[in-house]
Amino acid sequence: MKRQRYSGRNYKKALNISDLECIAKRRLPNFVFEYVYGGSDDEHTLRHNRSVFDRYQFEPRTLTRVGPRNLSTTLFGQQSGLPLVIGPTGFNGMLSQDGDKKLAKAARQYGIPFVLSNVSTTALEDIVTLEGVTTWMQIYFYRDRAFVKSLIERCKKADIEAIVITTDSAIYGNREWDIRNFRRPMKPTIANLLHLMSKPGWMLDVLYPNGLPTFKNLDELLPPGKRSAQGASAIIGQQLDPSLNWEDIAWLRDLWPGKLIIKGILAPEEAEKASQAGVDAIVLSNHGGRQLNHSLSPMDTLADVKARIGNRCHLFVDSGFRRGTDIVKALALGADAVWLGRATLYGLAAGGQEGVEHALGILRSEIDRTVGLLGYSALDELTPECLKPAHPLTL
Ligand SMILES: Cc1cc2nc3c(=O)[nH]c(=O)nc-3n(C[C@H](O)[C@H](O)[C@H](O)COP(=O)(O)O)c2cc1C
Repeated sequence: MKRQRYSGRNYKKALNISDLECIAKRRLPNFVFEYVYGGSDDEHTLRHNRSVFDRYQFEPRTLTRVGPRNLSTTLFGQQSGLPLVIGPTGFNGMLSQDGDKKLAKAARQYGIPFVLSNVSTTALEDIVTLEGVTTWMQIYFYRDRAFVKSLIERCKKADIEAIVITTDSAIYGNREWDIRNFRRPMKPTIANLLHLMSKPGWMLDVLYPNGLPTFKNLDELLPPGKRSAQGASAIIGQQLDPSLNWEDIAWLRDLWPGKLIIKGILAPEEAEKASQAGVDAIVLSNHGGRQLNHSLSPMDTLADVKARIGNRCHLFVDSGFRRGTDIVKALALGADAVWLGRATLYGLAAGGQEGVEHALGILRSEIDRTVGLLGYSALDELTPECLKPAHPLTL
């Protein structure tokens, strides 16, 4: 008999993140799904981000008196319910109305931090008012440094704990599906508009009553009338600053007294330099395969980076994490936590806040089972010795 996966739309029936991805695809208009799913150029890195996990196999211990697993960890001195962070993703309001708030509340439910993108559809002030949410703020380094400074001032006023500077996106990645699906910015092709007609649930959720969501953190950067995605994309593109360098990080370090996180590093030398430049954490990332195609995966450099930076600062990773086994492999190689991008976005698109909680619940039970089957009861027992290279080791 042909094996058949769940083919409905009920997020509660999703057994794994891949099921949530399929439900998201059924619920979203094509151009929105492609915006989330797609990678750059011919998507080699997008694929590599998944296949890289096959290079590592577990060497379990069996007679180890495994007890109830403790999956909590400590990030910046505070307890985190899981070794996970919901990472920054822009334009979440396109997946579900108030998508940022839904992600933030789901993160709170699991006692983990939520990172708000600066290209979000919710103002940072509206996230920090949600009681009990640990909010970190992601910022792109725009040419208009006065605007960057004003964003940082807003973060100080809002008592944001950590700022995340993304360094791998100073030039837009080439996401061809995002170009193919549109005639002009935010003007979908006729085929996409026809497909949209088959998504009344999405239209009611996202477009009613205010129309397309707009960018809520960029008012001073975008002239009035240019705050919609249609008006803003070209301006944001021109504002991204490829001259970003270590002097900017030093400038920021002086300006920002809170935790400073650099996201987008892959080279061990750069990670080492960052750890010496007073940053509090690094996120090894290739932006989920959306920027430089044929880029390494963070899993390719994680062990080397850990060997160089030791415990000087926190070490996070993202890009391609969809299973508890993926997450446990990264923790074993020295990551303090894994940041989630699409995994929780698929939950959001499939079922709003509850869908995100479902995604986190799936990952929690997968991590729990993996740690237990490996023969351990706590995350700090995980070491590189848990892993063996899969054969043949293809580099
Ligand atoms: C739809 C989407 C929007 C994103 N927007 C941002 C952003 O605004 N800022 C940022 O630093 N990273 C952004 N990212 C990258 C994510 O933070 C993260 O690095 C990436 O999604 C991890 O890969 P994964 O989706 O395979 O987990 C975005 C990713 C996606 C999928």
